[in-house]
Amino acid sequence: MKKTCKYSLGLLLLLPLTTGTIKAAEDIEIPFHLAKGQILYAKYCSSCHGAELHGSDKGPPLIHPFYKPSHHGDKSFYRAALQGVRQHHWEFGDMPAVAGMTPKKMDSVVPFIRYFQQQMKLY
Ligand code: HEC
Repeated sequence: MKKTCKYSLGLLLLLPLTTGTIKAAEDIEIPFHLAKGQILYAKYCSSCHGAELHGSDKGPPLIHPFYKPSHHGDKSFYRAALQGVRQHHWEFGDMPAVAGMTPKKMDSVVPFIRYFQQQMKLY
């Protein structure tokens, strides 16, 4: 009798975990055609914006309403990476132009970021 009780309690606790609709960032599967963007993002952006786009002590999260396409279009991503950004929304300081970044690499990075934002239900 005791055993059954414990067992059903365990199931009850587990239920919200398995049925929840909000995805954890680490559960997001990146489609093959975005893999290059993910690798480039990891190399050039994640040190400040975080491996899962949630930010770090050096830069803001990109999973944030500021960075929806309607607020910061793709062009602003190219501009940020290639020319840098003056501090304006946050207190992290300026974002320097990213050394070694090219428009062609950004052609892979931007779709990866947009996909991740959508998977995280940002828009
Ligand atoms: C050295 C740290 C650092 C790196 C590396 C970095 N960023 Fe940033 N980024 C920042 C900071 C800090 C800001 C916030 C500036 C503000 O609004 O105050 C920022 C802002 C941005 C913005 C908003 C631009 C705007 O117009 O407001 C975008 C888009 C962005 N980063 C994309 C990227 C991408 C893509 C990469 C990689 C190619 C990257 N960042 C690499 C630090 C960094």
